[in-house]
Amino acid sequence: MPASIPASELEQIELDLFVQALKRRYDLDFSQYAPASLIRRVRQLARDHRCGSISELTTRLLHEPDFVAMVVQGLSVPVSEMFRDPPVFRALREQVLPMLASYPQITIWQAGCAHGQEAYSLAILLDEAGLYERSHIFATDFNADALRRAREGIYPARDAQLWSRNYLEAGGERSLADYYSARYNFIKLDQRLCRHITFASHNLVADKVFCEAHLVLCRNVLIYFSAPLQNRTLTLFHDSLVRGGYLCLGLREGLDFSPVAADFSVLDAALRLYRRGHRPPSIEFGGTVLPFTQDGTGSG
Ligand SMILES: C[S@@+](CC[C@H](N)C(=O)[O-])C[C@H]1O[C@@H](n2cnc3c(N)ncnc32)[C@H](O)[C@@H]1O
Repeated sequence: MPASIPASELEQIELDLFVQALKRRYDLDFSQYAPASLIRRVRQLARDHRCGSISELTTRLLHEPDFVAMVVQGLSVPVSEMFRDPPVFRALREQVLPMLASYPQITIWQAGCAHGQEAYSLAILLDEAGLYERSHIFATDFNADALRRAREGIYPARDAQLWSRNYLEAGGERSLADYYSARYNFIKLDQRLCRHITFASHNLVADKVFCEAHLVLCRNVLIYFSAPLQNRTLTLFHDSLVRGGYLCLGLREGLDFSPVAADFSVLDAALRLYRRGHRPPSIEFGGTVLPFTQDGTGSG
């Protein structure tokens, strides 16, 4: 062993062992998470649990099976808002839902659902577009505690003010208060919003395609992944979308360098809103090259 290992190198070794322990003991693979945010969160976990080092955290992880839920909670950042980034929801309302209206059944996969705020926001959009009764939202996450809270649909009342503003900015014409009841310091979303939402466990690192979807929404999740894991995840989304289906990645993540990018057209570059493979650049038809129209048919 070298006489003195620089702290960061030692810490990297400890981090590698911690990640290996998670994988070997609990089959949870964090090896492809972006290193900078992973180390930040592992350090925070060590502080929160009064461990003097990452190695101490690893010892607890290995010897206390109940501790793993706490670790997943600490690594997963289940932070969200209703109608977060309102322009995204406005675009879904104005550009995507009118197109989805032509399907007899609409299936939506919302990956990385945290405490459910995004799924309930989608349910409200669909309800206001008159589509909710024939829609189903699969909202998934790998954090069991986050899923439990998502199913409850109970949130601190102090969040309601910001969420109401978001709702209006997203083009809502009613009041968000129409969708919840307030009690003491909490709001509880209407049970009827849950009717077509399934909250389910799914790990984007290890699990396969979840469902065949007309819209996949995944925001503020890929930022935590390394480039190869982002590509795996984007391929998963591509494979789960029907042809002509929509992918919404939101303001912080994009499709640009993914191997599946070529099979998507861009609907809104700023909002990272895409449509799957409904149009190659042009088709040859009887010697004439026809440009493609929005619905994927030749315009001629
Ligand atoms: C910052 S929240 C984003 C919540 C919501 N999509 C939004 O934009 O408001 C990130 C979520 O991704 C989830 N997540 C992280 N890694 C995941 C994985 N490998 N599989 C499934 N979900 C994951 C976390 O548990 C967390 O709930």
